[in-house]
Amino acid sequence: MKKRILSLLLAGAMMASLFVGCGKTADTAATDDKAATEETTDKTDAAATDDTAKADDAAKADTESKDGAVQVGVVLPTKDEPRWLQDQAQFEKILGDAGFTNQVLFSQGSSATEKTNIETLLNQGIKVLIICAQDGAAASAGVEEAKAAGVTVIAYDRLITGTDAVDYYVTFDSKAVGAAQGQYLIDNAPSGKSNIPLYLYAGAATDNNAFIFFEGAWEALQPKIADGTFVIANSSEAEALKDKATLDRDQESKIIGQITTDWDFNVAKSKAESHLTAVGAEMKGDVAVLAPNDGTSRSIADVFATDKDVTSYLITGQDTEKASVQYVIDGKQSMTVFKDTRTLAADSVDMAVSILKGETPKTDTTYNNEKVDVPAKQTAIQVVTKDNVQSVLIDSGYYEAADFTGLK
Ligand code: GAL
Repeated sequence: MKKRILSLLLAGAMMASLFVGCGKTADTAATDDKAATEETTDKTDAAATDDTAKADDAAKADTESKDGAVQVGVVLPTKDEPRWLQDQAQFEKILGDAGFTNQVLFSQGSSATEKTNIETLLNQGIKVLIICAQDGAAASAGVEEAKAAGVTVIAYDRLITGTDAVDYYVTFDSKAVGAAQGQYLIDNAPSGKSNIPLYLYAGAATDNNAFIFFEGAWEALQPKIADGTFVIANSSEAEALKDKATLDRDQESKIIGQITTDWDFNVAKSKAESHLTAVGAEMKGDVAVLAPNDGTSRSIADVFATDKDVTSYLITGQDTEKASVQYVIDGKQSMTVFKDTRTLAADSVDMAVSILKGETPKTDTTYNNEKVDVPAKQTAIQVVTKDNVQSVLIDSGYYEAADFTGLK
């Protein structure tokens, strides 16, 4: 019987991964979760064949009959950033299709809530925990508790550091995200100009990804800082390290300590305001801005757009949040990076299915978390500009054309 449940689960998950290409996601942090999930399911349901539906139903019935125990639990960092609502919508769809009882909990920016969420899931009997940590170091306590209870831990998108209680890591190629942001600024800077003011911003220092993004961006930009194309406008620590092609973690920490946004729109806004207040006219004109993600990019862009001495600005982002896709279409944000949450959620659920089946999940690389090398599955990213919103985001079914205005 157990075998049958597992093979049905596997069938469900495999079918799910075949049909996840048609989702649509929620756009604001304000947030009717149910509505977001329902939107996501429309097209996918239509695509399912009768057989798939039967296999899914059977798998669902079998898992649910198991005293209502939840086998796979998901913990995400916050509902206040549209990025994580994209992931939530995908998980609810994919877990449901694979026959699992849905359980996606949010930590709302608090490591304490995150720990409580893990404990709630442990009490519900989970066998696999998929977790995107609020704070990569602080999360170690919660996952160690999960591990001690016999649960397999999959770090989702953000690595959990300083513990051997992380079994697997499912992630995008975060270094490529930073590299793409840096390269975009280089490729689109006014040609033949030198001393182009470069404003640097980073994510939260509690998020390992913030370091990886910055590392990728720095390695792309540094030669162009060293040769005088760009001049750093807002970080004395970065200025002091401008001749270093690569940075160690301590050097990155020093810079990030100055330019962190904490992933917070308001912090990003007030830092941008004070940076522009602090500089003279030579640091304005045509400028380039490394913004780490879409939420902070929109805040920073709004500040730069209202400074009369800033003639033009290039600004990066990531996450293809709907509001930023609209900014890109409108020319208010230069680019964003598409991280297909359909793939990441499907990969982690596939991994969970393998684990429940007693198999070793497929991985393609490892990430060192300061304690162990964590086997990882990595997904590629894609740059989105005005010119390819249609082909990358609409034609692939991630968003609908009607979600935007002025799409060409
Ligand atoms: C990162 C994540 C990004 C972005 C950011 C802020 O860890 O990879 O996609 O959303 O957190 O939440």
